[in-house]
Amino acid sequence: MIIAIDGPTAAGKGTLARQLADHFDFAYLDTGSIYRAVASLVLEAQVDVNNQAEVTALAQKLRAEDLQRTDLRAEEVGQLASRIAVYPDVRQALLDFQRSFAESPPDQAKGAVLDGRDIGTVICPSADLKLYITASDEVRASRRHKELIDKGVTAIYAEILADLKVRDQRDQSRSAAPSRPAEDAFILDTSTMSAEAVLDKALSLVAGLQR
Ligand code: DC
Repeated sequence: MIIAIDGPTAAGKGTLARQLADHFDFAYLDTGSIYRAVASLVLEAQVDVNNQAEVTALAQKLRAEDLQRTDLRAEEVGQLASRIAVYPDVRQALLDFQRSFAESPPDQAKGAVLDGRDIGTVICPSADLKLYITASDEVRASRRHKELIDKGVTAIYAEILADLKVRDQRDQSRSAAPSRPAEDAFILDTSTMSAEAVLDKALSLVAGLQR
């Protein structure tokens, strides 16, 4: 079984994807971390982000261990990931890894959960279940703000909100695999839902598939 979870940043898709993978003992792939890993390599190599060919060369050389780089969650890396994700050649370089993870999950898991922006539309168009997880801009910004404060990182809510809007706009308006719900995706607005309620809803949708 393949479960595709898409949606904008800080909508709760990572939390849900991890919980579903744990629940069913499926493999989990956070595809945002792949774009973040390329962004981290771009920063390290001091490659010009406007140079698609050089950024693509780094994406083509990406190794599994790069997904463990320690700076992947940094705001700067997230913003840069969104900028390099507009390049069709970068997306192409990262496609096979994502598809083969979904089709042959590691450790012989019986299924895979992938989260990102184009899982239901491009990476796994025939996924068994497609969810598009969203929430209002303000709710997402305050979740991200709280996450950073809890980690002891100085963060300004207004800046987080502004950055999030810039990133959404770029991710949704790019021509290569724009972030949008697949036509057959179930759209879930988590603005007023707890993580438990979101999981319950997703589990009921999976149960519906098996009926
Ligand atoms: O989900 P995230 O915030 O970790 O993703 C970082 C950026 O990577 C996001 O702004 C756009 C890009 N991305 C993408 O274009 N396609 C994906 N499947 C996942 C992420």
